[in-house]
Amino acid sequence: MYAENIMDHFNSPRNSGEVKDPDIKHKEFNPFCGDQIELTVKLRNGKEIQEIKFQGKGCSISQASASMLTEIVKNKNIEEVKKLTKEDILDLLNIPIGPVRMKCALLALDTLQNGIKIYEQYTKKK
Ligand code: FES
Repeated sequence: MYAENIMDHFNSPRNSGEVKDPDIKHKEFNPFCGDQIELTVKLRNGKEIQEIKFQGKGCSISQASASMLTEIVKNKNIEEVKKLTKEDILDLLNIPIGPVRMKCALLALDTLQNGIKIYEQYTKKK
């Protein structure tokens, strides 16, 4: 049985859906199970996360970590978000995660950080 905070986020996801006219839209999946997360992000001044939403399907850990992540990154500078680590996510989840579930736990963070990377490459080229 998972901790209450995980079931709470899984059953009532925060920031679920899609942001209108997003600056970042990125989707990733867990190749082991096919579960996926899509994040849409609206930036303020191209630098700060003004709004973020996610949609996806998957296990309670992947979906709860996405919900928790959207809560903590709101109003953060993308430079700070790029520095978030696996440990930050594990702290949020607050249960021991074995190697098999690690990809589930990190799916949302990988999606967001890779989405930011793609956004930066794209805007640099312009
Ligand atoms: Fe698919 Fe966790 S089992 S993301």
